[in-house]
Amino acid sequence: MKKEEIIKYVNEHATSTILSFPDRGSSWGSSSYRGNFSGWIPATIIVRYGCKSVSEIFAGGGTTSDVCRDLEIPYCGIDLNPNPVRPDISVMDILDYTKDLPDGFYQSDLQILHPPYPGINDIHYSNHMWKGDSRSISADIQEMPWEKGMHAVNQAMMRGYAAMPKGAYQAVVVGDIRQKGIFRSMLTNLTLPGEQVQVLIKKQHNTSSGRKYYANHKFFFIEHEYVVITKKPSGYEIAFVVPQHHVMDIRDSKCATWKDVVYAVLQQLGASASLDKIYEEIEPHKKTQGNPHWKAKVRQTLQMLAKTGSATHVAYGKWCVA
Ligand SMILES: C[S@@+](CC[C@H](N)C(=O)[O-])C[C@H]1O[C@@H](n2cnc3c(N)ncnc32)[C@H](O)[C@@H]1O
Repeated sequence: MKKEEIIKYVNEHATSTILSFPDRGSSWGSSSYRGNFSGWIPATIIVRYGCKSVSEIFAGGGTTSDVCRDLEIPYCGIDLNPNPVRPDISVMDILDYTKDLPDGFYQSDLQILHPPYPGINDIHYSNHMWKGDSRSISADIQEMPWEKGMHAVNQAMMRGYAAMPKGAYQAVVVGDIRQKGIFRSMLTNLTLPGEQVQVLIKKQHNTSSGRKYYANHKFFFIEHEYVVITKKPSGYEIAFVVPQHHVMDIRDSKCATWKDVVYAVLQQLGASASLDKIYEEIEPHKKTQGNPHWKAKVRQTLQMLAKTGSATHVAYGKWCVA
């Protein structure tokens, strides 16, 4: 496709935070490479941010390489595939810290990452899209279980960021996954270095696999991906957001009110519970600390919950959730 046509198309079609490209884009990328994205994603970011040179981790089927060729700008990519599909893609395991990223990464004003979606087991790279040795196969993030895979994706984000010149953009394309009923969002588990610039929603087309799996469930079909764009403000700074998972007991939470705690205890105890049992459930927890009158507070809260219809006073000293 001609450079001018690409620019015209992007300016006409990619005007809001929702990107929808029913057509993948002319002849960009190897169409047989599974898990590839629409060339309109890199084209949009390049044109919108006026990027002059692009680097890419997880270059895959060469989509971004082909877009850059048509836009007449330099491109440099890496992929684990031992036989890269384009000459400007080098073989590299992003998790191998003994290797530096190629020089093109230090010179590009846009870095793109379209990582594998760990845990999706109907797409495979090693032994399917390419044949590798045992080392490269074990480094294939697609084949890693969810937590290990997301950790690897986040390492790639940080490695890529460290190699960026200041002022450069980093754009990552991630999705949500539902596997055997379990929902996992790459976005909410993603490490985002740098200043956040934009989050775009990319509508997915032809996601028939989603329909096949979820037709009889109460789940929504996943028909979008996220494009998150960040910027490196300075050469030294690595500011980043790391999602962390915490689990705590509501009875120890500073953010839970007496209403929240007493109601949670009634729900947990199920059938009618004695006041002593309710006290027992709460006593060892932080909610009671520093409050010598906490039992009175529990009784007062029970009365209040009964008044508003959330609890029932079953008998003398006996309570249950309404
Ligand atoms: C989602 S695909 C990228 C597709 C690409 N955007 C395209 O349009 O063709 C992810 C790629 O990550 C590569 N990959 C998996 N683990 C890797 C690793 N440890 N280091 C580098 N690349 C890896 C796979 O070989 C695959 O090509």
